Amino acid sequence: MSNLKIFSDDLPINGKRIIVRLDLNVPISNSKIDDTTRIEVVEPFINSLIEKKAKIILLSHLGRPKGKIVPELSLKPIFKYLEKNLIGKVNFYDGNIDSKAIDASKKLKSGEVLLFENIRFFKEEEADDEKFAKNLSNLGDIFINEAFSCSHRKQASIHKITKFIESFGGPILKKEIQSIELITNNKKKPVTCIIGGSKVSTKINILSTLSEKAENLIIVGAMANNFLKFKGVNVGASLLEGGSEGVIRKIIDLAKKNKCRIIIPIDCNTSSKFNGDATYKTLKSLDSNDIILDIGKDTINLIEDIIDSSNTVFWNGPAGYYENKNFSTGTISIGKKIAENTNSKFLISIVGGGDTVAAIKKTGLEKFFTHLSTAGGAFLESLEGKELPGIKALKRI
Ligand code: 3PG
Repeated sequence: MSNLKIFSDDLPINGKRIIVRLDLNVPISNSKIDDTTRIEVVEPFINSLIEKKAKIILLSHLGRPKGKIVPELSLKPIFKYLEKNLIGKVNFYDGNIDSKAIDASKKLKSGEVLLFENIRFFKEEEADDEKFAKNLSNLGDIFINEAFSCSHRKQASIHKITKFIESFGGPILKKEIQSIELITNNKKKPVTCIIGGSKVSTKINILSTLSEKAENLIIVGAMANNFLKFKGVNVGASLLEGGSEGVIRKIIDLAKKNKCRIIIPIDCNTSSKFNGDATYKTLKSLDSNDIILDIGKDTINLIEDIIDSSNTVFWNGPAGYYENKNFSTGTISIGKKIAENTNSKFLISIVGGGDTVAAIKKTGLEKFFTHLSTAGGAFLESLEGKELPGIKALKRI
């Protein structure tokens, strides 16, 4: 962190063109934004640049258009949102990144914003193309990476652009990195990690790393089904990942070696269909048509006790199929307990992953967490100890 160039409030930016790479990759259906969290998080910073009379050029991708114009992946709905919610005038540019685009950036008045169309409509973006990155850099005088969640991508508007323009990390990017350090370097023990999600194989690296960093590793969500089956529990018709036994054996062995305790559910709530009602089951009473869709009351109590005895909690992945409110009790209980202890007992709480953050927002308790990360893959890769190309590019040599 120490050698990372972070944007400072003292930098004179009045009248300067500031390129800000954001992650405006938000869920959109029928031109409506379903979840604005990622935009809300960066709004205060953009407004502060507007107040300081900078000329602000915003770049972002949306989805994976693979270098083609895909109308459903246009940033226009986000432009409309920004027009309504930012304190300055917002303009939209959907042409090529050429001299016309540079003219448009120069014509901006101080305190105005220019949002560019989905940067991944150009194939050069994902190719980390040198010439394209240089053209992008000509849109501004200073570049700020405020898209930590994209910094694991070696792409032109994140990585190569920094070769051609004075570049800094933004305040939220800084907060994301600091929060990872609270789990890895500057941790207050005991550390508990609660990991949900469905695929063990996609999380093997992170589970292995966390077994070295944490005292407790709690496995919930569909991923826990594989651990239950491994322990000989009949999980009925629950979601399972074929061939995960080897991965689970590795994680259990590693945790043992690192003296990290692994906790898996001891009871559950089930149904024979995802949109059904909840039926409480002990692990011994599961039938062949039962789908485990949430943790049970005894598991909730067990997890709450562990949270009570922890000084740091990292949580990624809901405890069940929380989209159906009949199966949201586990996720909500964990969220409430972490929020309560952060508020009253100085627990350090870091939450990552779109689903988990969305679940917390449903409880209205989001302000009680130490840090809610809007990054998915980038956060986990960074936690695993990988150096992200977009972050490396911001370091002083
Ligand atoms: C994300 O949603 O995690 C980021 O926007 C990165 O998107 P990508 O996985 O398509 O690169």
